[in-house]
Amino acid sequence: MNMQTKTWIEVGALNDIPRQGARCVKNGEMTIAIFRTTDDRLFALEDKCPHKNGPLSDGIVHDGCVTCPLHNWVISLETGAAQGADEGVSLTFPVKLVGETVFLGL
Ligand code: FES
Repeated sequence: MNMQTKTWIEVGALNDIPRQGARCVKNGEMTIAIFRTTDDRLFALEDKCPHKNGPLSDGIVHDGCVTCPLHNWVISLETGAAQGADEGVSLTFPVKLVGETVFLGL
């Protein structure tokens, strides 16, 4: 997490987010992608690849990472860090599930 959580905002139901996919939420000018893994873990990253700002929400979720659709960088959902030899970090945000409702920490 890159910032102190000040408030939790409700972003919808767990089932609104496809497994191995993402749903986007706007926060001012920023778009935040909330990802859901096959085992229903949730992660939130700024929807901006650290390489050339590709839309990570359009990427494929696998093994706790998302592969950017533009040039296939692999980004950790937990840390936002590019994997392998690539360098760069996307902003991460906390996410929590209360019952079936997803909350994003801002
Ligand atoms: S913009 Fe994501 S890999 Fe290039």
